[in-house]
Amino acid sequence: MSEKLIHILGIETSCDETAASVMRNDQLLSNCIASQELIHRYYGGVVPELASRAHQQQIIPVVEEALLRANITKNELDGIAFTRGPGLMGALLVGVSFAKSLSLALNIPMMEVNHLQGHVLAHFIQRDKNPVMKPSFPFICLTVSGGHTQVLLVKDPLQVEILGETQDDAAGEAFDKAAKIMGFPYPGGPFIDKLAVNGNPKAFNFPHPQVPGYGFSFSGLKTSFLNFIHQHVANDPAFIENHKADICASLQSRIISILMEKLEKAAAEFQINDIAIAGGVSANLGLRNALIKTGKEKGWNVFIPPFEFCTDNAAMIAMAGYYKFLRNDFAGQEITPLARMPL
Ligand code: KG4
Ligand code: ZN
Repeated sequence: MSEKLIHILGIETSCDETAASVMRNDQLLSNCIASQELIHRYYGGVVPELASRAHQQQIIPVVEEALLRANITKNELDGIAFTRGPGLMGALLVGVSFAKSLSLALNIPMMEVNHLQGHVLAHFIQRDKNPVMKPSFPFICLTVSGGHTQVLLVKDPLQVEILGETQDDAAGEAFDKAAKIMGFPYPGGPFIDKLAVNGNPKAFNFPHPQVPGYGFSFSGLKTSFLNFIHQHVANDPAFIENHKADICASLQSRIISILMEKLEKAAAEFQINDIAIAGGVSANLGLRNALIKTGKEKGWNVFIPPFEFCTDNAAMIAMAGYYKFLRNDFAGQEITPLARMPL
């Protein structure tokens, strides 16, 4: 008997990317993103009001593009998955309202998705004909984004236990704030990543916070980095320019060692060998390489998302929506976005 083909439209508007994607079961048909990076870069961070306005302008063209690239019409859709939270309220409202209207107009169900769940499920997206290597349940996932840093025990596609998370800044924020201190453009994570490739990670030593359990803290690192830069620039105004590769490599290496410590602890405690990373910071080359290296040493099966599924995208939302569709887990028209939404 052949598997029924389900077409899901995914919509993601939680922060500064307006994204839409179409999937046929777990197979990706299209993945479209209108980035607002240039709008926010001038301000050195995401401006919520500008984000909502840009989502309003982009949502229809992005959805049309996703349908066009998927080569299907909207009448062939079986369901609509949307990000309910967490994220910026005004940004989420655009996607949630759009999903509600389209669901009413097409008379098809909609599925609410937690953005963080989406990041985890990015590992299950079938991108092309070659079968994707999927982690087996239960697995450990380190979700590292601009807003979150969590160690997760993933028991099933829709059942996740948070083992620990950051007490203050997220790993992505640590990258972005350090980049801002050095005068780099927003978002600074990818910028630091590129410069770090040519630097010496042992050139400077930054503190490793001692946080119990699976918790993280990056605010102390940020403060010590700020003091470090101020002291050096006071003696040598060209310090950043002359040492930027070494500074970036050393800072990045510390952020990675903080993250890897907790992954190793979780793998050992839960005796789990399937270890994944997810979220924007999982695009970081240093983190990807560290995971591969430690994975080889420890005998882990490591799961690293393709770059297009690391940062915010709607394919991961459609993927989560597909699992909910299969379980008839639908949202009603009374649904509202949640700026804070626990996993
Ligand atoms: O998952 P994401 O796109 O959005 C949120 O859900 O927050 O993550 C964005 C974060 C930003 O902090 C950005 O600087 C960081 O991911 N990021 C990186 C890299 N690419 C994106 N950080 C380090 N290295 C990268 N290559
Ligand atoms: Zn995200």
